Amino acid sequence: MQPAEVLSLDEIDLSAPDFWARPWEEREGAFQLLRRERPISFHEELDVAKEFGVDMIPRGPGYWAVTRHADILEASRKPEIFCSGRGATSIPDLPPPFLEFFGGMINMDDPAHQRLRKLVSAGFTPKQLARVSHDVEQAAADIIDSVAARGSCDFVTELSAPFPIRIVCDMLGIPQSQHAFVFERTNIVLGAGDPEYVANPTEIIPALLGAGADLVALMKDMRKMRLENPTDDITSALVHAEVDGDKLSDEDLGSFFVLLVVAGNETTRNSISHGMKALCDHPEQREIFQGDVEGVAPTAVEEIVRWASPVIFMRRTTTRDCELGGQELKEGQKLILFYSSGNRDELVFENPYRFDVRRTPNDHVGYGGPGPHFCLGANLARREITVFFRELFKRLPDLQVTGEPDRLASNFIHGIKHLPCEFTPKAA
Ligand code: HEM
Repeated sequence: MQPAEVLSLDEIDLSAPDFWARPWEEREGAFQLLRRERPISFHEELDVAKEFGVDMIPRGPGYWAVTRHADILEASRKPEIFCSGRGATSIPDLPPPFLEFFGGMINMDDPAHQRLRKLVSAGFTPKQLARVSHDVEQAAADIIDSVAARGSCDFVTELSAPFPIRIVCDMLGIPQSQHAFVFERTNIVLGAGDPEYVANPTEIIPALLGAGADLVALMKDMRKMRLENPTDDITSALVHAEVDGDKLSDEDLGSFFVLLVVAGNETTRNSISHGMKALCDHPEQREIFQGDVEGVAPTAVEEIVRWASPVIFMRRTTTRDCELGGQELKEGQKLILFYSSGNRDELVFENPYRFDVRRTPNDHVGYGGPGPHFCLGANLARREITVFFRELFKRLPDLQVTGEPDRLASNFIHGIKHLPCEFTPKAA
């Protein structure tokens, strides 16, 4: 993929849904131009009320788009100046009904963030990860084998999407019968702007709130069950976790659950889908990876996450007048850290548009910048992506993508909804 600079600087409107509907090459071309000429640029916000016919989210004052790697790192390292807890980490501030379900620790600052992060870290210890390691292998094998006899399938809906949802659900001890229920709700939460998930724009807000409420209700039931009957899953570890005599409340657990199922699914599935497409587009890279999966996986998996950049941005808000990358900023202003752009910064990455499974060094910001909010699930995600490709190469070694990706309409998740693929069928 090579960026195409078809827009001039003044034509780049990062808030316009039209911009995000442009081909990937054109969007990358716009970010390449911004990094070079206007690395921190101001943009008006989308008028959500006008666009979607809902008045719950008033139009905000605009934001600064941060596109260079170095500025993203600096903002991430200084949470006392560039915070996550004022308004939210989404572009618009979250109105109160949303905060009930979506106000998890990703939208908090220390000390509240630190308290929650310490408590939930109980679910992400090396011991917990080792415990799910076998589940990860089993899930990948089962899912790939379920299509093996057919010779073709939709790579996303049948392979990459069911995989991480099953891992997160297994980790949390959510019964198999509820997996589809959880899956549908997470699709709504992250894909609400896409008509495939929510057909009528005026239904987006109720659909989002409904999905959040459903997920929180499920967790409430599970918390009650685990309090009465402790088990060895993460939900049980979280329900009983204590730091300095402090425990997670129903609300803490509910919003953490929403964050986890959402953060753990879309990100991993899209890394795998973009990774598969990139490996098919670059057969020489595939040969290197497929020829020595265990040896090359540590660098290949990082490159896949850099390439995919599944989380396009996160927001920060300034707590005081300050400066970033030479730009004066006023207190209370919004900054959008475009991780996807930082991951193509030519000042940091040699040939950033080359997919290179042995890229070293690879200091990408796909999991966020260095700071208190660095992805809690990064090690789990690395494991999932490694195991998935290892099992895929073993079971369906000649799988090829046979059509163009059907992309998710979103400025936040770099998503693929459908991706046709073919392979030599295996006897059941
Ligand atoms: C390739 C896969 C993944 C990518 C690209 C990714 C990306 C990110 C990013 C960019 C952030 C930073 C947010 C910020 O700076 O404000 C983040 C935070 C987070 N991620 Fe991930 N993530 C992935 C997988 C996972 C998985 C598998 C889980 C859990 C099952 C997870 C759970 C979380 C949580 C809980 C946070 C919030 C941390 C905090 O606020 O302290 N992520 N992730």
